Amino acid sequence: MSIRLEHLNYIYSPKTAYEKHALKDICLEIPHGEFVGIIGHTGSGKSTLIQHFNGLIKATDGKLFYNEENIYGQGYNMRKLRNEIGLVFQYPEHQLFEIDVMADVCFGPKNQGLSREECEKRALEALKLVGLKEKYYHASPFELSGGQKRRAAIAGVLAMRPKVLVLDEPTAGLDPKGRDDILEQVSYLHKQTDMTVILVSHSMEDIARYAGRIIVMNHGEIMYNDEPKKVFAHYRELEQAGLAAPQVTYIMHDLKERGISVDTDVTTVKEAADEIMKALEVSVPNVLADKMSKSRQMEKEK
Ligand SMILES: Nc1ncnc2c1ncn2[C@@H]1O[C@H](COP(=O)(O)OP(=O)(O)OP(=O)(O)O)[C@@H](O)[C@H]1O
Ligand SMILES: [Mg+2]
Repeated sequence: MSIRLEHLNYIYSPKTAYEKHALKDICLEIPHGEFVGIIGHTGSGKSTLIQHFNGLIKATDGKLFYNEENIYGQGYNMRKLRNEIGLVFQYPEHQLFEIDVMADVCFGPKNQGLSREECEKRALEALKLVGLKEKYYHASPFELSGGQKRRAAIAGVLAMRPKVLVLDEPTAGLDPKGRDDILEQVSYLHKQTDMTVILVSHSMEDIARYAGRIIVMNHGEIMYNDEPKKVFAHYRELEQAGLAAPQVTYIMHDLKERGISVDTDVTTVKEAADEIMKALEVSVPNVLADKMSKSRQMEKEK
């Protein structure tokens, strides 16, 4: 099971003064069960790309296969595709509109034709998964804080039990605690189920922490598509594309340049801390031993 794009192009408003070639010859495969991060500067084509995954935008040319079926083929069941690939838009809370959170989260499963009982069962399950407190289930979405609204909106997509969860900047505008909470929940979900997660983010730190693979978009093209450490090894090229590697990449390269033997491939703060401790365990005793032998030498010479 996978999503595969072959030479996909997308042009907004073709043959007008506003023509914009937003995706250029995209070839890409996302196998089922992966946690993929998509990163790129503003306007690089991230949102345009992910809206192709569930057929919301149709490519100007090129092909898109879901589970080896061409979604642009005649008679393809787009409804089924949208049920399987759940998309959480940028600022999803703008789409909350029902009278209370519960009704909003039930909206997707209701559209799937499920019974009221089943809808509520799935809604409750999804609300628990995103960690929204029970006291908010019957509150108006407009009474919630930014982070709570975001959780409710994500729950609305999870209640449809998608096989692929696509999140477009799910933490934009949230405080650091809200950001960590939501990403931890998503990561937990990914580990507990066999759901594919595709996370669009501006933050290299977040992507490095959770994604097993990173796709870097640059002016509508794929610049890199690789595991995090291989992508961050190109930190100078990333800077030229208006992106930065995670801060630990810079720290580790700096330490190495200063002669401390650390692995510059680490991508998270925890890995960096372990690596620095390891290097210190080796180098501190060496430095101490070196100092002691020098002082013994000096003693002898006195
Ligand atoms: N509806 C539209 N009509 C015309 N051009 C558009 C439209 N939506 C996006 N674009 C243009 O297509 C390009 C890609 O936009 P897209 O929204 O996919 O980028 P993005 O990487 O998601 O950016 P951001 O990080 O700001 O969300 C940009 O140049 C953008 O201005
Ligand atoms: Mg976007």
